[in-house]
Amino acid sequence: MFWRKCRIKSRVSVPFSNCIDASTRYCAVFGHPVRHSASPVMQNAGIAVLGLNWRYLAFDVAPGDLRQAILGAGRMGFIGLNLTVPHKVAALECVDVVDDAAQLWGAINTIRFEGRNGGGEWQPAHFFDSPSQEVRACGYNTDADAIVRAIRESLALELKGTRVLVLGAGGAGRVAALRLAAEGPSELFLVNRTVSKAETVAAEIRERFPGVKTGTAYPEGKVDLVINGTSLGLKTGDPLPFEEVKFSFGQATSAFDMVYGTKMTPFLEKGGAARCKVADGSGMLLHQGAAALKLWSGKTPPLEVMRKALLGKIGGKGHA
Ligand code: ATR
Repeated sequence: MFWRKCRIKSRVSVPFSNCIDASTRYCAVFGHPVRHSASPVMQNAGIAVLGLNWRYLAFDVAPGDLRQAILGAGRMGFIGLNLTVPHKVAALECVDVVDDAAQLWGAINTIRFEGRNGGGEWQPAHFFDSPSQEVRACGYNTDADAIVRAIRESLALELKGTRVLVLGAGGAGRVAALRLAAEGPSELFLVNRTVSKAETVAAEIRERFPGVKTGTAYPEGKVDLVINGTSLGLKTGDPLPFEEVKFSFGQATSAFDMVYGTKMTPFLEKGGAARCKVADGSGMLLHQGAAALKLWSGKTPPLEVMRKALLGKIGGKGHA
């Protein structure tokens, strides 16, 4: 931890990490709602270790205000943003440049603000002491790779040649299914309450990854992995994200929940009770956040410090 002392008023000396002054720069997560987010605790821990006079905040931004909020943050010299539910797809229309991966996965979870220097080149916002005359918002997706990294790390699972059941075909489920398809599983089963949405994603996967056998029915027999990419589990009392007459945890070796929180979701509790190896979405949150901090700062993020801060915030079991 970087504990350089700085002076506030005349006599009070506080650690550097507590000292906000006129040159402090900001990053933030925009969501609606956002109060549950563990990103500020995790990112501020990383920022402190990197010795940056930055802070990471959280703002509840209503969907209709997203464009203006992004524009305002850029004009106020923000370094960058993360976007969470429900902004990840809408943000594609609110940024000036969309990175190839974000285009490919169809969602943005990270924005880096850039300014134009005297030579006409675009540079990350931290190169400028005050917002440059011209500011642009560049959209990235650090979620997709984070899913694969978290699965590899938390479940010790390589996805090539596996059979995987993905539950959900909304924003999160779609990115998960597409990114997993890129890893070359032998079979993907996409199941969603609204079947037409699963069929749309399945059609996209068949076109982009023809080597992966993709269907929209529950699997027969064993799967190596079942992923919850629905929003079920966010609220207490939510039902399981699959129909128990059509699938059981006894068919799965591992279960991954993209939801994270202070409590185990019923999905992971039941999966664990059925002797599946289980992991929640905190590993994904960690890796997408670390990749965002790297994009903003150009520095290697202190992954273990960020992990510890994240786990300190959410506690419990099933985590990164
Ligand atoms: P996110 O960006 O978090 O994925 P989303 O796009 O609204 O949010 O998607 C929510 C997902 O959870 C969808 O797959 C949704 O199913 P539908 O496409 O049928 O809406 C799923 N979901 C939400 N509530 C559900 C419920 N009560 N039962 C089953 N699936 C549900």
